[in-house]
Amino acid sequence: MKGAILKSTQEPLVLEEAKFENQNIDYVEVKLYSAALNHRDLWITKGQYAGIKFPIILGSDGCGHFKGEDVVLNPSLEWGPDERVQGPSYQVLGLPTHGTFAESIWIHPDQLFPKPPHLNNLEAAALPLAGLTAYRVLFSRCGLTPGKKVLVTGAGGGVALFAIQFALAIGSEVWVTSGSNEKLEKVKAMGAAGGVNYRNAGWDQQLKVLTGGFDIIIDSAAGDSFAALIGLCRPGAAIGLYGGTLGKMNQLVPQVLFWKQISIHGSTMGTAREFAAMLELVAKYQIHPVIDSVFSLEEVNQALKRMEEGSQFGKIVLKIAD
Ligand SMILES: NC(=O)c1ccc[n+]([C@@H]2O[C@H](COP(=O)([O-])OP(=O)(O)OC[C@H]3O[C@@H](n4cnc5c(N)ncnc54)[C@H](OP(=O)(O)O)[C@@H]3O)[C@@H](O)[C@H]2O)c1
Repeated sequence: MKGAILKSTQEPLVLEEAKFENQNIDYVEVKLYSAALNHRDLWITKGQYAGIKFPIILGSDGCGHFKGEDVVLNPSLEWGPDERVQGPSYQVLGLPTHGTFAESIWIHPDQLFPKPPHLNNLEAAALPLAGLTAYRVLFSRCGLTPGKKVLVTGAGGGVALFAIQFALAIGSEVWVTSGSNEKLEKVKAMGAAGGVNYRNAGWDQQLKVLTGGFDIIIDSAAGDSFAALIGLCRPGAAIGLYGGTLGKMNQLVPQVLFWKQISIHGSTMGTAREFAAMLELVAKYQIHPVIDSVFSLEEVNQALKRMEEGSQFGKIVLKIAD
């Protein structure tokens, strides 16, 4: 079985025969058709992630074949009994356990879910981690219901695009930000009401004038621009935060937070129940993940480079087998 192995940070992954032992007697071997990248994989290769170990096969997203059925892999491992928060044994597939950038994977059968029939193998691999994260932050944490006005920041990203697709599917008015005008146009073509470029000075005021503010804001950038999101909240609004790309959030004005009764919900991945619910939503509304590009397993380092450049729109997928 060949796998793309990280042997040290700041080094390319090495595709070679992997002779790792089955990690658990309950695990089964799943032949993989496809995998997909998440920003997490890039953070790990750069050494910017907790608990890195070597050697490790990266990759949290996968679609494969097990006992005559096409399956997708739930990358949330050992969530634990409390729906509100993951327990101490919680892990994400692809560190510390070996991940999906490989011809096959050993995994607990409870992590396998039937592939939504309307998706091809590449689309199905694009779904798990980003789809699950978007589902939990939107529905479980921020309580999205039809008719709410939603802002999704950084529209070109994997999770962000699922958040946009899910919110549009149930009938929300969706606005976005992006660092690229081209991406803004693409999201509008998908049905978003509009958007602004976060690189333009005064982007938040521009959005305020256009929309009057939002009931729900979904963000993974954080940093100093987070304070502007507070200003874009309608009274009683919820902000769902699932990433910290720009680092610490300074200049928050507490009076605005409490006077407008704003809730900020941190969110990470999701439970097995949410994974099943996400697949159901995707099947119900016949949602197709947005795929930016497809690389072979041999081209995994080019795929990581594409993510690092940040010009992608949607998921970067690895085709492993037919
Ligand atoms: N907590 C969790 O469970 C979880 C799960 C998945 C991801 N994450 C985190 O969420 C972030 C995105 O992950 P991903 O895999 O979706 O990434 P990705 O596909 O590589 O996309 C990167 C995203 O960052 C956005 N971005 C970059 N600079 C920005 C800025 N100044 N303001 C607003 N957005 C900005 C990009 O927006 P444009 O391209 O439109 O400019 C794009 O949406 C990462 O920090 C990742 O670690 C967390």
